[in-house]
Amino acid sequence: MGAGPGAHQGRGHPRRQCFRYDNGKPHNDARQEQGDAMRFTVIGGTGLIGAQVVGKLAADGHNAVAASRSTGVDVLTGQGLEQALSGADVVINLTNSPTFDAASVEFFTASTNTLTAACRTAGVSHHVLLSIVGVDRLPQLDYYRAKTAQEDILAAGPTPYSIVRATQFFEFVDTILSWTTDDGTVRLPTTRLQPIAAADVADAIATTATGIPWQGTRDIAGPDLFPLDELGRITLAAHPDGRTVVTDDRAGMFAAIAGDVLTAGREAILAPTHYADWIQRL
Ligand SMILES: NC(=O)c1ccc[n+]([C@@H]2O[C@H](COP(=O)([O-])OP(=O)(O)OC[C@H]3O[C@@H](n4cnc5c(N)ncnc54)[C@H](OP(=O)(O)O)[C@@H]3O)[C@@H](O)[C@H]2O)c1
Repeated sequence: MGAGPGAHQGRGHPRRQCFRYDNGKPHNDARQEQGDAMRFTVIGGTGLIGAQVVGKLAADGHNAVAASRSTGVDVLTGQGLEQALSGADVVINLTNSPTFDAASVEFFTASTNTLTAACRTAGVSHHVLLSIVGVDRLPQLDYYRAKTAQEDILAAGPTPYSIVRATQFFEFVDTILSWTTDDGTVRLPTTRLQPIAAADVADAIATTATGIPWQGTRDIAGPDLFPLDELGRITLAAHPDGRTVVTDDRAGMFAAIAGDVLTAGREAILAPTHYADWIQRL
């Protein structure tokens, strides 16, 4: 569906290869030949996106290893990294910070410095990172500043890389609603979002990781745009829990974001899953 031909360029890095969805299935022009198994280390491979990426790569016949603190690998301290990266063709970074505040800057800066150094030592040939659409246009938000720093460290390093910038996950909407819930009321701004299913993000990451490094960034987004207050109403209409949505353009983290900063540009890849269908299936 709807994949544009060009890639959004990340701070002047040249575009290389890309992927698209064909009839809802991810496709990569540079995809490895069938039977050409590769070894992937998925840092954050036990998380929402990471676990699905590991599953998709394994289902395609690849050797995909999940690495996180629960498997003995810590990207902050470096514990277990050397062993986790040993023999890896591709490293995929799907970690997340425990907080969205200023501490996230330290998390993403320190962990990405540690990981890029380990990738260089291990001779990794492709480093894939999941980031956020519009991330470098919101320096006033700690978490977005943190993710921009993470992108910059990766782009400045020696390992060939691809940065996939996704919009907000469908699975994140509940959390967004919880931030501004007060008794039976959810206050939400009209900020426009273009949410995407985590499964579609995982498809995009797995397909990107089996291709040639882009040396740049590319946006992926869901097929539909919603003002956040409308997204809240659709969510609560599908699964009523007694709360109602009140429009409030000063409520929550996304209230600070004007215009279409969080929605994808014309050249973004559009994923196939519609929120209205997904929410009904929950
Ligand atoms: N939420 C959204 O709408 C959205 C949109 C666009 C992009 N993103 C990006 O997507 C990425 C993945 O998000 P997610 O929701 O899949 O995250 P998640 O479910 O919270 O998973 C985070 C993973 O990181 C691991 N981890 C955390 N600290 C670690 C450490 N010090 N060392 C090693 N592993 C560590 C966790 O496992 P352990 O706890 O076992 O260590 C877990 O596997 C994030 O970077 C986020 O910025 C999110």
